[in-house]
Amino acid sequence: MTMDKKLIRKIRRNMNLEEMTSLCSGKTAWETMNYPQYGIESVVMADGPHGLRVEELECALGMPEAKPATCFPPAVLTACSWDAALLEKIGATIAIEARAEGVDLILGPGINIKRSPLCGRNFEYFSEDPLLSGTLGKHFILGAKNQNVGTTIKHFLANNQETHRMTVNEKIDERALREIYLKGFEIAIKESQPMAVMCSYNSVNGKFLSQNSYFLTKILREEWGFEGIVISDWGAVYDRVKGVAAGLDLEMPGNGGINNEKIFDRIKEGRLKITTLNAMVERLIDFSFKAKENRRQHEEIPVINVKKHHEIAKMAAAESMVLLKNEDKTLPINQEKIKELAIIGCMAFDPRYQGSGSSKINPYRIDDAYDRIKELAEPDIQILPHQGYVHEELIEQACLGEEAIELATKSDMALMFLGLPDRYESEGYDRTNLNLPENQIELIHKICEVQPNTVVILSNGGVVDMSWADKPKAIVEMFLGGQAGGGAIADLLFGKANFCGKLTETIPMKLEDTPSYINFPGIQDEVIYGESIFVGYRYYDYTKKEVRYPFGFGLSYTSFHYEGLENQDLCFDTNNSFEVKCRVTNTGDRDGKEILQLYTGKKNTKITRPLRELRHFKKVFIPAGKSVEVSFEISQEDFNYYNPSTQKWEHEGGIHEIYIGSSSQDLPVVFEVSLPDNTWSPLTQYSYLSDFERSARGRVIIKILLSGFEEAMGQNLDANDAFFMAMLKGSPLRKLVEFSNGIFSEESIEKILYLVNKNASLEGLTFEDLIAVKEKKKGWINSFFSRNDDQTIGINSKVRDIVNNEDAMKILRNYFEADAFDSEYLQIAIRMGVCFDKAQKLLPDDFFSDEMLALIDLDFKNLAKKK
Ligand code: BGC
Repeated sequence: MTMDKKLIRKIRRNMNLEEMTSLCSGKTAWETMNYPQYGIESVVMADGPHGLRVEELECALGMPEAKPATCFPPAVLTACSWDAALLEKIGATIAIEARAEGVDLILGPGINIKRSPLCGRNFEYFSEDPLLSGTLGKHFILGAKNQNVGTTIKHFLANNQETHRMTVNEKIDERALREIYLKGFEIAIKESQPMAVMCSYNSVNGKFLSQNSYFLTKILREEWGFEGIVISDWGAVYDRVKGVAAGLDLEMPGNGGINNEKIFDRIKEGRLKITTLNAMVERLIDFSFKAKENRRQHEEIPVINVKKHHEIAKMAAAESMVLLKNEDKTLPINQEKIKELAIIGCMAFDPRYQGSGSSKINPYRIDDAYDRIKELAEPDIQILPHQGYVHEELIEQACLGEEAIELATKSDMALMFLGLPDRYESEGYDRTNLNLPENQIELIHKICEVQPNTVVILSNGGVVDMSWADKPKAIVEMFLGGQAGGGAIADLLFGKANFCGKLTETIPMKLEDTPSYINFPGIQDEVIYGESIFVGYRYYDYTKKEVRYPFGFGLSYTSFHYEGLENQDLCFDTNNSFEVKCRVTNTGDRDGKEILQLYTGKKNTKITRPLRELRHFKKVFIPAGKSVEVSFEISQEDFNYYNPSTQKWEHEGGIHEIYIGSSSQDLPVVFEVSLPDNTWSPLTQYSYLSDFERSARGRVIIKILLSGFEEAMGQNLDANDAFFMAMLKGSPLRKLVEFSNGIFSEESIEKILYLVNKNASLEGLTFEDLIAVKEKKKGWINSFFSRNDDQTIGINSKVRDIVNNEDAMKILRNYFEADAFDSEYLQIAIRMGVCFDKAQKLLPDDFFSDEMLALIDLDFKNLAKKK
C-alpha cells in the first residue's frame, strides 16, 4: 500500500459492512464501486494487451463492438524484438490511448509461458522462456506507468492452455513452478510493481487460483512484496469467501453483489475474520486513490495522434519479424533483377494481424502487404497478384491454385502469403495440430516446383509445422503483424528495413517432439506437467532433439562476428558480481541490429538441469563494418536452480560456463567461472554422506569417518571396496546408528550435524570423538551390511569374504594356479561385491568350469561341517 495509510484506515473505519463488502466486486463489467462521500472513485478498466478494447456498450461476457484503437502487433510478434525499450514504448502509447478514453487500468500484459505450441492463446504471450517473458512484461508495465496508467499482469498462474481453462487442475512440481511458471511474474512484479495482478481461472495443485492463499498471499505479497490488488479473471471466482481469505481483492465482472452478500454473512457469523476484510478493503481504497492520483497528474485529456501511433505499430512490427531462411540472398528483393513479382495468397490482401477473444482490437486502419508492396515496387516492378487459396477449405479451389501457379511460372519471383486462418486459434480453445491448412501446403509444393525464387511469408499466432521448409528459398515469420504489419513486411522485403527479430519460442520438427506432447491438454480436468522444468529449448537441448529453428534464432541481411574479450577477472571471490565482455562486429555491408543472448550452464553437474538457460540479453545497433563491445553484469544468481528439498535458490560449487551468441544453438563465446560453495544449506539427519562433500567442513568430517572405517576394515576403502563406499555414501546419516550396531548413537549423529553445520572447531577431531561406544567390538564394521566374519563360507558367499578366509583360500589354491589370484577379474569381483558362484558365470568359460564349481562346493560344505 503506497497512499496515505492513516487516511485510508480512517475512511475504512467510517464505512459500514455493506459498503465495505460492496467494494469486493465490480460495479459493472469494467468499473469498480465508487463512494463519493469517502472520495472513493470508480477505477475504469479495459482489455489490452496489444491495444485498447473499450467496449461501446456494457456487456459482461459477449463481445460487443469496441471503440477504434491502435492495434499493435500482439505479444507473439513484439516479443521477437527482444527489445525492452520497444515494449516500454508500446506500453506508453497504449497508456496514452487509455488516458484519452478515461481508462485507468489496462488488462495486460499477459506473460504466461508457452508450454505447448498448441495453446490457442499463445499469440497473447511472449515466450517459452520466463526471463524473456518477465522482462518484456516488466517494460510494458513501466511504459504505461510512466504515463500514469495502471496495468494488470495476467494470468496468474499457469494459464497455459485454453482447454477446460475454467476448471482444469494443473499438477506442477515446485521446481517447475519456481524456475518456469512463477519466474516471469516474479521478475515483472518485483521490478515494476503493476497496479494489479489478474488471477487465472485454473487450479494449480488442487486449488483454484482465485482462492489460493499460497500463490495470492504467501508468494505474491509476503515473498515478492506485491503492493497492488489481485483481480479475478472475468468469472474466475468459485468460492468468494475462500477468495477473501486467500487474498483475492476484487471479483470481476460485477454480478449484482451476490457474492458480496456471502462475505457480509460470513463476517456476521464470525466465520470470516473482519481483520482480513479490513485489510482487503484498505487495499481496494488504496487502488482507487492511486487511479485518482494518476488522473490528477494529467489535467488535459490527450488527443490521440492516430498517425503517429500507426507509425509506432509499424516500427514495432518491423523490429520483430523474423527471417528464418534466405538462401542465395533471395531477399531483399533485388529491384534490378526482379521485373515481375507474383504476390500469392489471400493473406496478402486480407491480412491476419491479431488473434481472437478478449484482446481483439478494432483498429483505426489496416495496412495490407499487397498495397504496401505495390507502393514500393511500381513502376519498376510489375506486380502479379492472386489470392491462390481461400480460407474455406470446403470450397473447391483447384482452379485458384492453377491460376496462381501460372502467374508464379511467368514471374521472376513469388511471394506467398500463408498462415493460419482466424478460426484455427483463439482465446477459448486450443489447436489440435500444428499444420497449415492442407490447401496451402499443397500450394507451396506446386509453386516451388515452377518458381525457384519463392518466398513464404507466414501469419500465425502459434508456431506451425514447417515440414515443407526445404522448398522455398526464403521464409519469413511475420506472426501477427498488428494494423501496420503490411507496411513493415513490405519495407523488410525490399530492404528498406533490416530484419532484426529472433524467435522467442522453438519451432519444432513436429508436434510429437514437443515437451508436453503426452501431457497436453490432460484428461478431463487434470493436466500433469510431466516435463517439469524442461520447457521449450530447455527440453530440446537436453534431449538433443533436432529442431526446425531454435529458440533465439533469426537472420539479418548482414552478418555478425562474435569474439570474447578475455583479460577479465571472472571470479566471485571478492565481488558479488563481475562483468563479461564481448566484441561483435558487423561483417556485412548493411547496418543491422543484433540480439546478444547470454546463457549459463554447468557441464559437470550433479543436478538434473537444463544444459543452458537464458540469463541476459541485449539488442544493439551496429553500423556496417563496425564493432561494438557489449558487457553483461553477472551475479551468482545467474547460476541458480531451485532446490525443492531446501526450498531455496542454490547453485553448485565448481566450474560453470557462460555462453554468449546469437541463438540458443549458436554460442561462440564461452567463459568459465568457478563458483564458491557459498550456498551450503545445513545438513540434516536425512542428508546423505555424499552431501558432506559439498562443503569444506563436510569434507573434513567425511575424511575422519572414512579413516575410522578403514582402520576397522584394515584396508584402503576407496580403492578396494566400491560397493561398500557406494552403500555408505548412499545412506542417510542417521542410518549409521543401525548399520554400526550402535557404535554411533543418535547423540553422535547430532554431534556430527553440529560439527558440520556450525562454526565449531574441527581441529584435532578424531573418529573416536564421533562415536558413542569406544570399545568397538571386533567386526562391528562388517555388520554394517550384515556381513559376518564368522559366517559359513559357501559357493554363494561373496568373493571378498572368501579371500579373507584362510581355510577357504587353502581349498581354492588346490583348484587354481597361483597367478589366478593376481588376476584383474578377481580384483573386480572383490570390488563389486560379487558372489563366488555368480563370478563363475561372469568369467570366461575356461577360467573355471561347472564341474570345478561343484567340487569346490563339496569342499566348502565339508569345511563347514568341520567347524
Ligand atoms: C480473459 C482476460 C480478459 C478478461 C476481460 C477473460 O476471458 O481471460 O484476459 O482480460 O476476459 O475481457
